[in-house]
Amino acid sequence: MNTKISPAKLAKLRALAKTAASRAYAPYSKFRVGAAVLAGSGKIYSGCNVENASYGLCNCAERTAIFSAVAAGEKPLKIECVVVYTPTKTATAPCGACRQVIFEFGPDSRVISTCDGSQEVDVSIDALLPGAFGPADLA
Ligand code: THU
Repeated sequence: MNTKISPAKLAKLRALAKTAASRAYAPYSKFRVGAAVLAGSGKIYSGCNVENASYGLCNCAERTAIFSAVAAGEKPLKIECVVVYTPTKTATAPCGACRQVIFEFGPDSRVISTCDGSQEVDVSIDALLPGAFGPADLA
């Protein structure tokens, strides 16, 4: 897991994830989520959840941020850290689909869940998705 992220960079990631949550399109769940992704290039990409009247099409904040990084031209995208923010008292863990997508671009990623309470969960993607299937399995 990458432990070399400076406190200033982490503060920026937290702030950008929080701002992203304010942009969430979540009229159905009312659950607003923001994410900020630190790429190996040093650039940060953020995203929010985007829901749909056809509920199964809802896209999580984490995947919005990661797909934005790819769409912006990060190539190859190497995720170092993902920060997830929810305006809740307890931290929110990434869903299973997002864990798989994080692993695709950052098998050594650090994943931090922040909220409005004092709880902050800071774990590796390996802890969230042990024994993951990934690009190396297709090599
Ligand atoms: N959601 C995220 O965006 N990220 C998570 O880590 C958990 C869930 C979204 C999906 C949906 O729009 C809403 O939260 C409720 O599940």
